[in-house]
Amino acid sequence: MHTDGHNADKVFAGSIPELYDVYLVPLIFEPYAIDLARRLAARRPGRVLEIAAGTGVVTRALATALPASVDVVATDLNQPMLDRASSVGTCRPIEWRQADAMALPFADGSFDAVVCQFGAMFFPDRARAFAQARRVLVPGGVLLFNVWDRIEENEFAATVTEALAGLYPQDPPRFMARTPHGYCENGVIGQDLAKAGFPGPPLIETLAARSRAASSRIPAIAYCQGTPLRNEIESRDAAGLASATAVCANALARRFGTGAVDGKIQAHVVPSRPDRRDRFRPGNACSQSARASVLFDRTPRTPVLLEPHADLFNDRYAVTLSETAFGVRRDKAALFQWVQVPPGNRSSRKHRSGYGGNE
Ligand SMILES: C[S@@+](CC[C@H](N)C(=O)[O-])C[C@H]1O[C@@H](n2cnc3c(N)ncnc32)[C@H](O)[C@@H]1O
Repeated sequence: MHTDGHNADKVFAGSIPELYDVYLVPLIFEPYAIDLARRLAARRPGRVLEIAAGTGVVTRALATALPASVDVVATDLNQPMLDRASSVGTCRPIEWRQADAMALPFADGSFDAVVCQFGAMFFPDRARAFAQARRVLVPGGVLLFNVWDRIEENEFAATVTEALAGLYPQDPPRFMARTPHGYCENGVIGQDLAKAGFPGPPLIETLAARSRAASSRIPAIAYCQGTPLRNEIESRDAAGLASATAVCANALARRFGTGAVDGKIQAHVVPSRPDRRDRFRPGNACSQSARASVLFDRTPRTPVLLEPHADLFNDRYAVTLSETAFGVRRDKAALFQWVQVPPGNRSSRKHRSGYGGNE
């Protein structure tokens, strides 16, 4: 009897981490890792959390792309993936930590950016994982992630899946279609981000690239042996891994040639819209970190200001504390009202202190 596919989909252990890192990472993950690191570096974060970091391809790119002063914490559900990542190493120190993306062991507002490469599709409850990311982000922080597009746009994965369906017609292994390529609808991604409290809709970009290898045997090993597809094959035929890999190599050679192979890959890159922390809207409680930055005024109804806090307000907003909130909940969460600072006065310190009315 074979294992439950959905549970086995998240098991990256045994020989998988090494084969994943050696065969699959250069084949399909590297170009997207460089892309995410470049996008993140442009935002100049001070502290970065990576979730579902796997064997560290994005972590290594971040270590290179971000200044040494930027703290990077890289996490994954599966410790064997992190063990592989830390044994490969990075050009500067990184904090590696086992963590489930749906229950992050970090304080609220402790990172400027959360990054995740090809991990979201593995989370049983994506909205919950995104809400966790949002919780640990500072106001104005960004969640940046990518997901694979549908399997038809990813030619090696589609060919391997078809070949295995021919080998096991009664019970085709569907890991690749079900999980890595099973979370690609922009509308669904937007809904999950909205459920998690991110302002939307996200500005999703679809990015095609090429996947190249010296022979068809490389992608066959990469997919059949370096991913949880291996668990599905072995659960159908304990001794059949080598022959299933050969069947896939032949199918790839028929479609892409007997020498070097070259196929299309495609993914969606999803930056959440900067979270201006809608918990500051009237009626919502504000966070500890933002409360600390409020210049309290003792006179009810007098406008109070936030100190510049990351790029939360970006000089576009000040807040007033309502009389009720000030009187009733002053020492706890306060209620705020948004006020737009006139455009001519943005970035002006004079305007800030004048507006505060208490300096
Ligand atoms: C396709 S790999 C991507 C790894 C890495 N980001 C990369 O680009 O190579 C998916 C990763 O998600 C991890 N994962 C699965 N479920 C997870 C969860 N609930 N929380 C955190 N990581 C998870 C797996 O252990 C695996 O390392």
